[in-house]
Amino acid sequence: MVFFLTLSAVSDRKIYIETYGCQMNVVDSEVVVAILLQHNYSVTEKVEEADLILVNTCSIRENAEQRVLSRIRDLGQIRRKREGVSLGVIGCMAERLREALLEQTEVDLVVGPDAYRQLPDLLREVGSGQKGINTLLSMEETYGDISPVRMDRNGVTAFVSIMRGCNNFCAYCVVPGTRGRERSRDPESIIHEVKELVGKGYREVTLLGQNVNSYRWQGNGNTSRREDGATSRREDGATSRREDGMTGLTFERLLERVAGIDPGMRVRFATSHPRDMTDELLGVIASFPNLCRAIHLPVQSGSSAVLKRMNRKYTREHYMDRVEAIRKYLPGASLSTDLIAGFCGETGEEHRETLSLMEWAGYDFAYMFKYNERPGTYAAEHYRDDVPEEVKTRRLSEIINLQSELSLKSKKKDVGSVVEVLVEGTSKRSDLHLYGRTPQNKVVVFPRKEFNPGDLVRVRINSCTAATLLGEAV
Ligand code: 5AD
Ligand code: SF4
Repeated sequence: MVFFLTLSAVSDRKIYIETYGCQMNVVDSEVVVAILLQHNYSVTEKVEEADLILVNTCSIRENAEQRVLSRIRDLGQIRRKREGVSLGVIGCMAERLREALLEQTEVDLVVGPDAYRQLPDLLREVGSGQKGINTLLSMEETYGDISPVRMDRNGVTAFVSIMRGCNNFCAYCVVPGTRGRERSRDPESIIHEVKELVGKGYREVTLLGQNVNSYRWQGNGNTSRREDGATSRREDGATSRREDGMTGLTFERLLERVAGIDPGMRVRFATSHPRDMTDELLGVIASFPNLCRAIHLPVQSGSSAVLKRMNRKYTREHYMDRVEAIRKYLPGASLSTDLIAGFCGETGEEHRETLSLMEWAGYDFAYMFKYNERPGTYAAEHYRDDVPEEVKTRRLSEIINLQSELSLKSKKKDVGSVVEVLVEGTSKRSDLHLYGRTPQNKVVVFPRKEFNPGDLVRVRINSCTAATLLGEAV
């Protein structure tokens, strides 16, 4: 995914920022822009005009890193064309590849995900001819007090970060290494941000974290929910807690508060971990009509043995039990997932367990990946990446083909019914059509007529593809 910022204002220096990777990175870029706007920068969408070019990066898979590295080299050439232009790499690749970036590319600035507050100081160092480098990870940084400057892609939907980092250490994943330990953001600042968004006319927020179910606010001495030794306690053991009735606030309680701000504001969240998806949480979702009926529950594999090797900390049976609970509490909710094909040691039988689980769950949507060994992860250090490339490719295409069938089936179920669509913008294919999403997160395209982005429209579904519902306003 690539997003460009489209803001402009009069000031000394212009930033151009490109964002790659997940939704967390989108919010991080918005935080970075907010910090720099306070230091006499403005934003441009034209790279040739920029005094500072920033690339916010993702490390989750190697091919994504390679693509961004080549983009950084191209941007290096643009940087050279004009005097005084600086190039910075921020985000997960800055954290993971600091030395390589400094040695092999023309970057002036390398800043990890927890060091964005230092950007103005680091830019001063760059201004005096040095490199600006900070890749320290923090136990506390949440940027809670910074109001992100919205990308304004549609003015209707926004992401709100509620926590940072991850303590799960799935064996294949670089995130705990690049984004650090899990920490929850002050609920007051989350609620304040959502209220601001309501005031600006936004109609949907997505609360973001790597593992939102373990959100827990512990006052100023913030820790995560887990008390199993993996908690992100303050290293200095500080006890300065703000006793304001919020201490101990869990994700369930936070969700109630956010949903209660405005019944007209749709609320989504991502990502949930199957181990922590409680009945209590499902009960909360069921009790608020504006909490969206779409659960993203990454399973990764349908085999308990593979899940054990992945350090996912749940079994196939536990996952199935959670899906049954979702069906019980939230009938009609959509279910989506993430899947990895060809993890270390995966047998044909284990792969078929993934296919059978997919069929059983009847996923509405899935993100599907081939296993990619990442340096520094538990899997890279302890297992052999022994599923041959052609076998991974075949397994992934079997998974993709099955999901295409399931996605089509899921869309066909809606044909003939009337759904409620929050309009996000004009359809890419035709100016005469709008697109938006149902509470189940399904994309709907329909003739524009008198409607506008931000409207809630009841649409009768007439037909579909595997990706989109097509209909007409009723
Ligand atoms: N190889 C393949 N897929 C991965 N993911 C994370 N790390 C890897 C990896 N090394 C996938 C998981 C995760 C999603 C964000 O990316 O499915 O849920
Ligand atoms: Fe990575 Fe697992 Fe954390 Fe998700 S839960 S970010 S897959 S370690």
